[in-house]
Amino acid sequence: MLKPLLAVLLTILSIQANDTMEQLYMKNGCSSCHGIYGEGIGASPRLQGQREDILRKRLKDLKKGRTRTAFGTIMISFAKALSDSQIEEMSKYLAALKTTVNEERYEIEYDPAGDGGS
Ligand code: HEC
Repeated sequence: MLKPLLAVLLTILSIQANDTMEQLYMKNGCSSCHGIYGEGIGASPRLQGQREDILRKRLKDLKKGRTRTAFGTIMISFAKALSDSQIEEMSKYLAALKTTVNEERYEIEYDPAGDGGS
C-alpha cells in the first residue's frame, strides 16, 4: 500500500533536485528576456547551448558591472543576484540546454495549464 505513495514521493523529490536551475531561470525572470528556452530575444543574447566557460566569464563580468553593449546594463542587477556557485551551475545548465522552440513542446507545456482554472 505504501509503495505507490513512495514512488510518487521519490518522483517529486527527484524532479525538484533536477529542476533547481530551471526554476531559478524562471523565477529570477531570466526567461522573460532570454526566452523560456534561452533562445534569446532581441537584444538579450541566446544562452542555450553556448560554451560553459564563456557563459561563466560573461556572468562574472556582468556581476562586476562590465557589459558588452549599452543595453546590457539592464543585466547587471540580475547577475549580481546570483551567487558564485549559482553562476557555476547556471552556466552548466545553459550550456547543456538543447531544447529548441517548436510547436510540439508548446502544446505539451501549455495545454494542461490552459484547461485548469475555469
Ligand atoms: C531585463 C532583461 C534581462 C534579464 C531579466 C536577464 N538578462 Fe541576461 N542579459 C540581458 C542582456 C541585455 C544581456 C547582454 C549583456 C551585455 O551587453 O553584455 C544579457 C547577457 C547575459 C549573459 C551573457 C551572454 C552573452 O553572450 O554575453 C548571460 C549568461 C545571461 N544574460 C544570463 C542571465 C540569467 C541567468 C538571468 C536570470 C538570472 C538573466 N540573464 C536575466 C538581459 C537580461
